[in-house]
Amino acid sequence: MPNNKDVAILILAAGKGTRLKSHLAKVLHAAGGRPLVEHVVRVCVGVGAKKTIVVAGHQAEKVEAVVEPLGVEIVLQQPQNGTGHALLVSKRAVGNAKYVVVLPGDAPLIRTETIKALIQKHKNGQAAATLLTAVLEDPSGYGRILRKGGDAVQAIIEESQLTPETRELNEINASMYCFTTTKLWPALARVRPDNKHREIYLTDAVAVMNAAGETVLAEVAQDSREMLGCNTRADLAGVDQTFRDWKREALMRDGVTIQLPQTVLVDPDVTVGEDSVLEPCVQLLGKTKIGARCVVKTGSVVHESILGDEVTVEPHCVISQSRLESDVVVGPFARMRMETHLKSGSRIGNFVELKKSVVGEGTKAMHLTYLGDAKIGSKTNIGAGTITCNYDGFHKHPTTIGNKVFIGSDSALVAPVKVGDGAYVAAGSTITDNVPADGLGIARGRQVNKPGWASKKRRELTATEKPAKRNKKRR
Ligand code: UD1
Ligand code: MG
Repeated sequence: MPNNKDVAILILAAGKGTRLKSHLAKVLHAAGGRPLVEHVVRVCVGVGAKKTIVVAGHQAEKVEAVVEPLGVEIVLQQPQNGTGHALLVSKRAVGNAKYVVVLPGDAPLIRTETIKALIQKHKNGQAAATLLTAVLEDPSGYGRILRKGGDAVQAIIEESQLTPETRELNEINASMYCFTTTKLWPALARVRPDNKHREIYLTDAVAVMNAAGETVLAEVAQDSREMLGCNTRADLAGVDQTFRDWKREALMRDGVTIQLPQTVLVDPDVTVGEDSVLEPCVQLLGKTKIGARCVVKTGSVVHESILGDEVTVEPHCVISQSRLESDVVVGPFARMRMETHLKSGSRIGNFVELKKSVVGEGTKAMHLTYLGDAKIGSKTNIGAGTITCNYDGFHKHPTTIGNKVFIGSDSALVAPVKVGDGAYVAAGSTITDNVPADGLGIARGRQVNKPGWASKKRRELTATEKPAKRNKKRR
């Protein structure tokens, strides 16, 4: 295993990203469920380099907040005078590393193995610089590689500097380089901002090296997708799609069935157990964990949640920051949020919302219900239309419902309130006081029946009805 402790990695992430037309710095835009620059930093972790440095500038604090927890060093580039300038301000941070790998913060599909291979090629070739390229059908937007022949490069020509002869070149500069530092710094010192943006282009260092008789090598990457940068919203969408493809392919390899895969969106940290099925248009987000033999049906969104084995999520549910134990069935059209915990075998039906609630084993709430800040025991039945009134306009209050309780339909439980084990609440009750275990809570007007009332009423109404209207009806 080659040692890369003589390598410093430099990730360029200081630019604004004008072509995205956004208030947010380009490298903070997300693709594949993470900010672009976070992907690049994570990939570098496995290279085994001496250190990884991120050059931040535009919205530096926000960039720092994303990458600092991953253990990188930050260099500030203010103002941002080009990719070459970004290297110059990082010279001290690179220090005495023999080699420096430069990666753009806006090309997130790069893989650890590809970076390792670049370093190896550079070391083997004893070059001043080695760069990664791709041959693209549509190379527009990228700098182009002008080869001398074989592996050797003469220059990189930026798109704005293309001439009619060089416009035909379709091998692009991916902006991923390995430099020998003793060759890099003198070459960079000679680069001038001779372009319309008055920037110091790192790409110009290649021509300087070549003129000085140094070796610059280029290798076409095996998978050109890894080379793609994100300068526009369309680029972002393309890169996002590739990440999503890779994640779904990995899940399918691990024994997950995905129907109409192109419609299913899964974030990178999500795990799904064997023989689980994801139906069309499902989204699994954040650090969601799905157990084995689960079915997540069409249109459901599961965010930052944990599902045990054999859980069924019927169509169109939204589950967020919640835990569903094994053998739970929820939905269709159910919503669970904020630390809701459904214990094994519980059933949540259509148009039921749960917030910060615990539902005991085998308990059912099947229709049209809101349970907020509620703790419910096992084998309890929550009738259709039950509402926990947990909010008094200032504070949230708890509702506690015991084991084997029967809450009649259309009940309002005004919190704080408790219903003891085995108790009944009569349908249509508004419960404001605790119901003791084994008791009946009934809180509604008593029914009065008036025999013959209806026909008497109809006669009265017929007598007062306007004649014109009566005639109209008879016609
Ligand atoms: C750059 C290359 C181009 C290559 C392309 C690959 C140059 C001059 N051009 O062009 O040859 O084909 O990448 O994607 O290098 N950045 C800084 N400081 C700066 C300017 C940029 O840190 O002063 C960062 C940006 O945040 C970005 C990266 O460097 O992450 C590349 O900059 P960008 O403006 O995207 O360069 P491209 O025009 O794509
Ligand atoms: Mg770019």
